[in-house]
Amino acid sequence: MQPTTELQRPIIKTELPGPKAREIIAADAQYVTPSYPRPDYKLVAEKGYGVWLEDADGNVFLDCNAGVAVCSTGHCHPEIVKAISDQAAELIHMCGTDFYYRHMPALGKKLDEIVPIDGPTKTHFANSGAEAVETALKLAMYHTRRQKFISFFGSFHGRTLGALSLTSSKKAQRLGFMRQSLDVVHIPYPNKYRHFADDRLSDEATVTRDVISWIENRLFKTTTPPEEVAGIVLEVVQGEGGYLPAPTAFVKELRRICNEHGIMLIIDEVQSGMGRTGRMFALDHHDGVKADIVCMAKGIGSGMPIGVCTAKADIMDWHKGAHASTFGGNPVAIASALKTIEMLQGGLVENAREVGEYLENGLRKLAGKYDVVGDVRGLGLMLGVEFVTDKASRKPNVALRDRVEMACFNRGLIILGCGTSTIRWSPPLILAKEHVDVALEIFDDAIAASI
Ligand SMILES: Cc1ncc(COP(=O)(O)O)c(C=O)c1O
Repeated sequence: MQPTTELQRPIIKTELPGPKAREIIAADAQYVTPSYPRPDYKLVAEKGYGVWLEDADGNVFLDCNAGVAVCSTGHCHPEIVKAISDQAAELIHMCGTDFYYRHMPALGKKLDEIVPIDGPTKTHFANSGAEAVETALKLAMYHTRRQKFISFFGSFHGRTLGALSLTSSKKAQRLGFMRQSLDVVHIPYPNKYRHFADDRLSDEATVTRDVISWIENRLFKTTTPPEEVAGIVLEVVQGEGGYLPAPTAFVKELRRICNEHGIMLIIDEVQSGMGRTGRMFALDHHDGVKADIVCMAKGIGSGMPIGVCTAKADIMDWHKGAHASTFGGNPVAIASALKTIEMLQGGLVENAREVGEYLENGLRKLAGKYDVVGDVRGLGLMLGVEFVTDKASRKPNVALRDRVEMACFNRGLIILGCGTSTIRWSPPLILAKEHVDVALEIFDDAIAASI
């Protein structure tokens, strides 16, 4: 592994994509499903070390996306590689749904210590974010004996059929799949930069009041009686929808509503969890509000496929055979997750807070410099920059966002869009301030060249 300290800047030595990358892209077009929502720029990854990513032609990029908020400990961290390879040499698989091994209770116990749920918990193991969400949906239906769910416009919870019923961040996700499998009603997300009624600039108190009123005075009195609602599914920081943090007052109000009506508060921490926001979970930012069910994936395994759903022990009351997965909770994936959590607790959560603040300050300076940067928002190292035509109109500027994304790539910085016209920053949590300086310089230059 190359030491990250020796490499201070991206190295772009071919046209992009380079000749080897172009061959791989051509083969991909021939043999791989066209359904992946890849951005305009084409990155062909070959190797990763720390915050650096090398492509098939030897170009080196500064990675501020981390494989979409997954490689929390950076690429191929030596301690993660060792945990994975040591485990692979001992036991790769023995199907925890039928047999026992020490790894499942070990991770379950660790999660019991850290998840924002009151009292004892139990954990179900799967392989992805969508599967963790499927678990939460089935569990909430089973436990409450109810069938309806409330989800948010702009939300993303995965593309399997149950999770897709919740997902609503882009038209392409549902187009062609017609009737959804679950009974889900969507409500506006409390976005103070764009009030849902008329897009106006608003504030936390107003959007909280208006969305809560929508639930209690419209939904509950018309289409969605609360006694039929199994769960409300919330991303505390909406991810794919534009890196939008929910106000604390709103999160508290949802908890109150769930308490009053016996509804499960399901918190999807797939993108926002595992230290990314500068606390272990995004919900930890909200004055001690606790969930009934928490979904985790992405950053928990440093790149190994693992998705988990942790719930209050007395909610996870389903019968033997009700829900299980052959590969879920694979010993190698769990070994990586345990080491990841150890590293998060050992300093990376704190680093996400500190370096996140530094990055946010830098992005705010750019917002002051450019009229086209309408909003900078987020928590820790989960930051969104929304591009607009100008600050006065706040009209989303999709074309500019796409140009900036491409200009960053051409200069060796990997960032990715989300929402309508936002760029998300979701770097590895090992990012240092020196990396931020380089990233901001490139971002600044990319914006200037794209206006
Ligand atoms: C909040 C959230 N939930 C669920 C998912 C689905 O995860 P996966 O792609 O691992 O199925 C995602 C993926 O982006 C996500 O951001």
